[in-house]
Amino acid sequence: MICNRMMMMMMRAMNSTAGADDNKGPLMLLKMMLVLLVVAAMAAQLAAAADPCLELTDSVAPCTCADSVLDCSGIRSGAQLLTIAGLQNGQSLGFEEIRILANPLVMDIPDGAFGAHYAVHTINFMNNKDLLSISGSIFRPESKATLGTLIVRDNKVESFPFSALQGFTNLTTIRLDGNRLTSIPNNAFDGLISNVELLNLDNNLISSIGEFAFSNIESVQEITLKNNQLERLGTHALHLSAPVATVSVSKNLIASVDPDFLSGLLPGNTVLSSNLITSLPQDQWGPALADSLTSSARLSFTDNQFVCDCGMKWLFDVPAAQAHFFNILCSNILNPSTGQPWNLWLAGVDALGECP
Ligand SMILES: *[C@@H]1O[C@H](CO)[C@@H](O)[C@H](O)[C@H]1NC(C)=O
Repeated sequence: MICNRMMMMMMRAMNSTAGADDNKGPLMLLKMMLVLLVVAAMAAQLAAAADPCLELTDSVAPCTCADSVLDCSGIRSGAQLLTIAGLQNGQSLGFEEIRILANPLVMDIPDGAFGAHYAVHTINFMNNKDLLSISGSIFRPESKATLGTLIVRDNKVESFPFSALQGFTNLTTIRLDGNRLTSIPNNAFDGLISNVELLNLDNNLISSIGEFAFSNIESVQEITLKNNQLERLGTHALHLSAPVATVSVSKNLIASVDPDFLSGLLPGNTVLSSNLITSLPQDQWGPALADSLTSSARLSFTDNQFVCDCGMKWLFDVPAAQAHFFNILCSNILNPSTGQPWNLWLAGVDALGECP
């Protein structure tokens, strides 16, 4: 682009002197030199505007800065960030990405870690084996409309500033998987109002999801909480007010649910595979089934521990239940031809025996 502009300006300069008196040769040379100087100055200014690394007034060592990426992977502690002049002094700069990767020493990202600087598009803290906590101050208001990717995966984070994400309207990818989070607070991602594609909370120690934790996230493709410690899905834990393709809580310890654990708009697929569900009492699961009948929502139950008995007969009273509750395999009723746990819908209501 800069080259194009330079060419055009030079051609214009030449045109304006074309056909002029031959005596004006030196003048033309002067004109062209002036044009070149102006172009060079503009190019330098453009480059500086594009790369905030060139605008740092002080050193950021041991962080490095290149091509608009501020990389603090080399720090010895979170507190050290507060002593780095280039981070703490000077005007606020927006970096394309701020990252700390594979750092074995840092335990926290403290308040004011990057001074007034901010990440325009990406925050990337990954594989820091001792990183326990992150301050909300890294989510600067300047990037509310632009921050698209938040990667905080495979650290040891126990404490994450969920409320600081409020109003970040351009977040499309949120990866908090592979940490030590134990709970998702009420309304944690409420107010994000984004075009979220992936919200990944897999491989944590999450044992509770607060009410309305995922409300008001727009157009989410996938919310995933695989391999956590959930034993029960509480009231409005999976409430959604916008369409979400898939919510997965597979590989947890779920045995029971509150009747309104799903509410609002149901996800297309709710994956409950590989949990500890043994039965589907109507008072717990009835509302979810009733709500799913009005949509194409599916709940899938592969690899649980079902004991199919009288308590499941109510499911056969709901027309089309089998189009919504999938892969209920009865550990106590074996498929006569394979000897494997039989699918409830194939085994049929008569296999459930008499009610006492
Ligand atoms: C929003 O995020 C996406 C994905 O990271 C990015 O490509 C886009 O430029 C961002 N939008 C703005 C306005 O910065």
